[in-house]
Amino acid sequence: MYYEETGSKTGKIVLFLHGFPFDHTLWQESGKSLGDSHHLIFPDLRGFGQTNLPVTQVTTMSQFAQDAIDLIDCIDNTARVVVCGLSMGGYVAMNFARRFGNRMAGLILCDTKAQPDPESVAQNRKRRADALPETGLDALAGVMLPNLFAPQTASDIRETVHAMILRQPVNGVAAADRGMAERPDATDWLPTFAMPTLMICGEQDTISPASEMKLMAAKIPNARFTAIPNAGHLPPVEAPNYFAIAVKNFLDEIF
Ligand code: MLT
Repeated sequence: MYYEETGSKTGKIVLFLHGFPFDHTLWQESGKSLGDSHHLIFPDLRGFGQTNLPVTQVTTMSQFAQDAIDLIDCIDNTARVVVCGLSMGGYVAMNFARRFGNRMAGLILCDTKAQPDPESVAQNRKRRADALPETGLDALAGVMLPNLFAPQTASDIRETVHAMILRQPVNGVAAADRGMAERPDATDWLPTFAMPTLMICGEQDTISPASEMKLMAAKIPNARFTAIPNAGHLPPVEAPNYFAIAVKNFLDEIF
């Protein structure tokens, strides 16, 4: 599994799980402002970026979470980590928290949701995944890009994200899309999660709206919600400094 790391190797581990269809560079700008006190790990999930793990028809959120704990175990098999996931990375982070909560010190969920896809959305994803080898990533980017950003997000940021989408492996993207269509409902699990949790959402996110994330935060006993101004679905790239401050304050409090 390919990953980049920054900060102190003796610091507490914070694992950053990117969304769909992105890679670890989603965190690049905000990572620069996260400081040196913690051990920050930015992997490419299976089928994305430079990770070369085998990809089948479907990559489930459970498989991504297993890869994540395997990676943590390779780095330090006793560590209690903070897992931070954005959108699809959030689905994976919730799966991780359900199964490996005893290895966690906290959870950060960004621009994500607990509910599964409605049947029509799940069917759409499967059709989109099956067509992807023919339609290509540019078509997927064309569908996704108009919904990803706040209206005021600068064109160079939009171009960086566009390029990130275009360089992902088609089979990895299709398998993850099918995996998201199968993800289970995490709503009933939220009240059972006792760890400190930070919920972050771009104020202008139309994919995972802030109003819904606020409701989600209210269901987790030890959660707080932070809205990021001037950001849509991708606060770490649209408002990297603001995003980093929110994350850093949370980490400094819990570690
Ligand atoms: C993401 O950013 O990871 C996607 O919007 C997730 C999704 O398609 O549900």
